[in-house]
Amino acid sequence: MSAENKNVILQVTNLRKIYEDSDSTKAILDDVNLSLNENDFLCILGPSGCGKTTLLRCIAGFEKFEGTIEVNGVEVRKPNTDRILVFQDFNQLFPWKTVMQNVCYPLIKFGIKDKKEREEIALKYLGKVGLEQYKDFYPHQLSGGMKQRVAIAKALAVKPKLILMDEPFASLDAMTRRKLQKELLKLSKSENVTVIFITHNIQEAIVLGTRIMLMSRSGNFKLDMENTLPRPITPSSEGYAEMWDIFNNALNEESLS
Ligand SMILES: Nc1ncnc2c1ncn2[C@@H]1O[C@H](COP(=O)(O)OP(=O)(O)OP(=O)(O)O)[C@@H](O)[C@H]1O
Ligand SMILES: [Mg+2]
Repeated sequence: MSAENKNVILQVTNLRKIYEDSDSTKAILDDVNLSLNENDFLCILGPSGCGKTTLLRCIAGFEKFEGTIEVNGVEVRKPNTDRILVFQDFNQLFPWKTVMQNVCYPLIKFGIKDKKEREEIALKYLGKVGLEQYKDFYPHQLSGGMKQRVAIAKALAVKPKLILMDEPFASLDAMTRRKLQKELLKLSKSENVTVIFITHNIQEAIVLGTRIMLMSRSGNFKLDMENTLPRPITPSSEGYAEMWDIFNNALNEESLS
């Protein structure tokens, strides 16, 4: 690996995806190229149906595709605990397992054979999202925000290189959403994890992203911007309004096209 790309954690090259069961021969992802550095927090915006989820599913290893995807220099061929997906759906937890059991579950796959050790790790990560005291609760006994916190703890517990988040806060009320955004920013730094975060919310992208990209209906990226606004970023931050306008106009253009 050369010196100039030693921090590259994700390299997507000429990615093309056509769903075989789809009527259309149109590529959902068409020649997508993306290079992501370690500790980047990439937010992806884009109109509904442009292929954002498909891109995450390809990176996660759940889809067949043309082109190459490399994580830490290793080609993606199937799912692995170095890349974890977190969804919008509150029901991504096993309803028949407790909070503790849910967080422990991927640790078995991760190779931690000792139950006590798994529980210690799970408790540590539940602590990081403020939910230790709910370890014996079942998902149906939790609020939506709490379920998403468990999903984040479960993802972080396997120490992934990349967390792939597909509109994780979209179903939350505005206040809980802001709280979770702050917590996620803190955790992504302290846990040294690189994040790809899909959102339909321009404000969320600007508040969270160190880099913001916009996907177009033609199945590739239309805008790619470093977010250098001083942190913490709020709508009254200098430069915020200009950045919001750029993405809003580009999204409007996409919806007219
Ligand atoms: N399993 C599948 N088989 C066939 N077509 C699919 C499949 N999954 C998704 N698609 C199609 O691929 C396109 C992109 O879908 P995708 O879910 O990636 O969009 P998206 O950008 O995440 O949209 P949204 O913002 O609404 O979540 C859509 O046209 C969708 O119908
Ligand atoms: Mg989607």
